Amino acid sequence: MRSRLFAYAAALTVPLVMLMPAAGAAQSLAGSDPHPNVHLYDVADFGIDAADVTFAKHIAPILQRSCQGCHRPDGGAPMSLLTYEDVRPWARSIKNRTSIRDRQGAMPPFYLEKDLGILRFKNDPSLSDKELALIQTWTDHGAPRGDLNDMPPPLQFAGAGEWTIGEPDLVLRSKDMTRPAIGPDRWGDIGLVPTGLTEDRYVKAVEVREINDIPPGAGDNTVGGRYIFHHMTYSSGVLNDEGTDIDDDTRIRWPIHEVGRNADIFPEKFGTLLQANSALHLGASHLHSNGIAETTAHLEFGFIFHAKDYAPEYANRARVGLGNGNDIDVAPGRAGQEMHAFTVLEQHTKLVAFEPHLHAPGTRMCIEAIWGKNHFTLNCVGYDHSWVKQYVYEDDAAPLLPKGTILHIVGFLDTTPGNKNLADSRNWAGGGRRSVANMFIDLGYAVELTEEQFQSEMAERRAAMKSRNDYDVGCPLCWAPVPPMETATEESGQQ
Ligand code: HEC
Repeated sequence: MRSRLFAYAAALTVPLVMLMPAAGAAQSLAGSDPHPNVHLYDVADFGIDAADVTFAKHIAPILQRSCQGCHRPDGGAPMSLLTYEDVRPWARSIKNRTSIRDRQGAMPPFYLEKDLGILRFKNDPSLSDKELALIQTWTDHGAPRGDLNDMPPPLQFAGAGEWTIGEPDLVLRSKDMTRPAIGPDRWGDIGLVPTGLTEDRYVKAVEVREINDIPPGAGDNTVGGRYIFHHMTYSSGVLNDEGTDIDDDTRIRWPIHEVGRNADIFPEKFGTLLQANSALHLGASHLHSNGIAETTAHLEFGFIFHAKDYAPEYANRARVGLGNGNDIDVAPGRAGQEMHAFTVLEQHTKLVAFEPHLHAPGTRMCIEAIWGKNHFTLNCVGYDHSWVKQYVYEDDAAPLLPKGTILHIVGFLDTTPGNKNLADSRNWAGGGRRSVANMFIDLGYAVELTEEQFQSEMAERRAAMKSRNDYDVGCPLCWAPVPPMETATEESGQQ
């Protein structure tokens, strides 16, 4: 049976209650989700006259930057948003889907809550308050076209399968997998893919995409209708002499591929190694039938390399392990349910990415750092199980957490019929691998820092701050006195 998880109803009803913009509103993690669902703004607050707002001048540039990558012929989205004629019939729907900014169903699919925490992420396609104001005003004033001479030049698209990370240095291909139109899910190992590398290379960015024979336009209304690979966890390592397996001691884990997930851009100081004579091991693939037709697909892995003489400054991924699958207890028919998980950092740690992973009942996840008496809410993001997104911090905004920090995640769940991703709101559910069971994990990853690296990263942050009153949410010790380093101790001993 086709996974109901992806049968996301296209028509989303925006609540009638219009809430005030959340700018400046205090927000607490505790209790049920107090975050507003709709963000409405006035263009006058941005010094713009409502009567001047047109498609050509104001809306087209927004659509080019944040929407047309998907909303173009062959882009995978249900309709094209290239021309005024394409866009006009969708004006009200565009207003609704963008105003819910970080809630399930929001467009573009990137659910960062912007009223608290760290706001600087790599490849953030989300709309600013001003852009939301422009879309809202334009829609409410009859969606005028304006002067076509004001239009920005149209974007040139390379084709259906453009890489968002740029042209890769190496593209690897999985074997073909076929699923019937309707059938059970398939989960398992789909083998090795030799890299053909004759020397070690460090990877700067990796993107995984599915190439399949679903006709353009078919299945566009749901993400699950366009793809058969639900997810793939994979690793790499050096091939044995027979080329039949990889040596476990050399195994390197890569971030997961999931349908709808964005590419991985590793921090500049933490390239990931792809060894000479290595292979990818596609260890766990979850495939599902798309409900449309028998479909054959393969995955392509696009890698961008660092220069050959590159050596990473940060050696190890930190072991964070933040989640709890055992104690999940999801009641039927209830909104505002919460789950909590904690872990203690054993090393100084820089968080690279936050990647909430819940299943269909999930609507939101927050991550906070507890250091001494302080609780820092690092981020809260909405969650839509049709789009499993990761949030990759800008290198100079990523949390810098001392060892001993307690990390805490809070998952928010809604099992009422208002959650369009749910198959059935009447069932109790626990934890498990299947889509009808639940998960509660931060799949994001982090790097370990030595004392010197930790101090030097914090010194860079301090240098970028205007004064002692400036504050970095992810850096609890940024203004703490710098402890004497080994060399400093020796010197002071001599005095
Ligand atoms: C990453 C790809 C992607 C991006 C970027 C994206 N969309 Fe979408 N959009 C989709 C897909 C796929 C669907 C259908 C599934 C869904 O609703 O989640 C959709 C659905 C929609 C719908 C609802 C269509 C309907 O049938 O009711 C609207 C409106 C929309 N998008 C507008 C936008 C706007 C406006 C932007 C930019 C601000 C945008 N989208 C960015 C992929 C995308």
